[in-house]
Amino acid sequence: MRIPRDRPRAPLPEGPLTGRRKPWRRVLARTLAACNRSLSGLPPGRWWHRRVLAGLETPEIRLKLVPSRSALSGMRIAFLSDLHAGNFLDASDLRVLFERVAASDPDLVLFGGDLINTRTSELHLFHGPLSVFEAPLGVFAVPGNHDLFWGPEAHEWRAFLAELGVRPLVNQGIRLEFRGTPFWLAGVDDLTEGRPDLERALEGWREGETCICLSHHPDFFFEAAAVGVDLVLAGHTHGGQIRFGSWMPIRHSRFGWHEGLFEQEGSRLYVSRGVGTTILPVRFGAPPEIPFFVLE
Ligand SMILES: [Fe+2]
Repeated sequence: MRIPRDRPRAPLPEGPLTGRRKPWRRVLARTLAACNRSLSGLPPGRWWHRRVLAGLETPEIRLKLVPSRSALSGMRIAFLSDLHAGNFLDASDLRVLFERVAASDPDLVLFGGDLINTRTSELHLFHGPLSVFEAPLGVFAVPGNHDLFWGPEAHEWRAFLAELGVRPLVNQGIRLEFRGTPFWLAGVDDLTEGRPDLERALEGWREGETCICLSHHPDFFFEAAAVGVDLVLAGHTHGGQIRFGSWMPIRHSRFGWHEGLFEQEGSRLYVSRGVGTTILPVRFGAPPEIPFFVLE
């Protein structure tokens, strides 16, 4: 599908937690990341996080498509986001999680960013665990802000995952086929640390094809809904991570897209609470989740 270059663009959100990060916020983020590492090194940190993981939810979300696209019925997608590996989560935790996902026979496995916490070396934790996936349509990933904290090393993130059979989608798309029906899978760069370009990610998308787009930041849904992307899968918010009713200290969506399913202009957004934690190995009122989508 060609997107006219002069189309009206939804304004990119700006604010302390969305839009391009200001230098002082990056310093703060790196300081917090260093605190994470220190806490992660203490045995109680991991123990506490394993207790959080014991509450992992794996909801099955059935999504109805318009009748002309019903040939994708039955396609099963596993969506993992915000693992933050290396931060309270080690290789053995990843293996247990991935084996659980693989056991449910997904057709497609998608990673929604923040695979690692702060260091490229944390990617090595994925080396063995990733081998359990045998999804027939493949395994794909987009970067999150934590994957990109160190800027110049971002290319290593892409190269390392590609070596392990995970295709990174950074402002890119690919045509996949489920039982003879093609659809478009797109992925955009992170909104706060990268440079998302939906136009490039949708180059090649054909009229009438279902389009699924991965974006770490949920606020990118603005852009995607404006051009008719059918489904956006996002993470980043951790569902607030600690919630007392509607109060939560982590508010990463300017538009209140903190968790669950949203609809706008016929497009859908699902925001996962993700798996890992940031700052402290604590979740309250926002259990970790790995959602499975079944298209109807
Ligand atoms: Fe995250």
